[in-house]
Amino acid sequence: MPMPLIQTSNANLQLMSGAKMLHILKDINLTVNPAEVVAIVGPSGSGKTSLLMVLAGLERASEGDVIVSGENLGDLNEDQLAVFRRKNLGILFQNFHLVTSMSALENVALALEIAETGLSFARIRDAASAALEEVGLGDRLNHLPSALSGGEQQRVGLARAMVCKPRLLLADEPTGNLDQDTGAMVIELMFNLARKQKTSVVLITHDRMLAERADRTLVMDRGRLSEKTKEVQV
Ligand SMILES: Nc1ncnc2c1ncn2[C@@H]1O[C@H](COP(=O)(O)OP(=O)(O)O)[C@@H](O)[C@H]1O
Ligand SMILES: [Mg+2]
Repeated sequence: MPMPLIQTSNANLQLMSGAKMLHILKDINLTVNPAEVVAIVGPSGSGKTSLLMVLAGLERASEGDVIVSGENLGDLNEDQLAVFRRKNLGILFQNFHLVTSMSALENVALALEIAETGLSFARIRDAASAALEEVGLGDRLNHLPSALSGGEQQRVGLARAMVCKPRLLLADEPTGNLDQDTGAMVIELMFNLARKQKTSVVLITHDRMLAERADRTLVMDRGRLSEKTKEVQV
């Protein structure tokens, strides 16, 4: 067996909200192998986004271990976590989070600049435009996000998330703002790119049809993560 890309052992997340301590994630034991695509479904407020935050090192587990790409995130300081994210992660958001004043090409190029690959400006441009071509936006390079449809904006988001060839793609309801057909097309592109680049994916989605296209579906319920059983699937 290969070493898992993600391994959490009894990870818990507790946060103070006013005077109250909220227990948001409870004993999460998640294993994701390299190149594996895992979908997480579950009601709103159950802790799905919080889990992605913990996997990205944007929230620290209060208890338990979170190991991603060989790094125990609890052992890393904020600077080391930033390097960890740059080296290993791509993130896809529901609201795209593109820089509105930058063209599609500049948005993707920015990810490469932040990654400090040492590439020249010309090479960054080439890599960014190749990534946009891969998501079918070769003819939209110089468009601003405002001149793109939702599906196109999310494809720019996907190109940006994948351009540095991350080991792990975290996607938080990436189709939540798209209609069914457009969402399905974006997910198709995402899965194809991930398989091609051997990127593991943790996909949060409300869409059961999309979840079924993953290698495995897990259910989050009130902070607890479990395998989806056949009975629940009906
Ligand atoms: N920073 C925070 N402070 C306090 N409570 C939070 C914070 N972030 C999330 N929560 C709470 O944690 C629970 C899980 O939220 P979230 O992970 O966003 O769920 P989901 O993504 O499944 O809708 C919710 O009850 C939410 O209100
Ligand atoms: Mg959420």
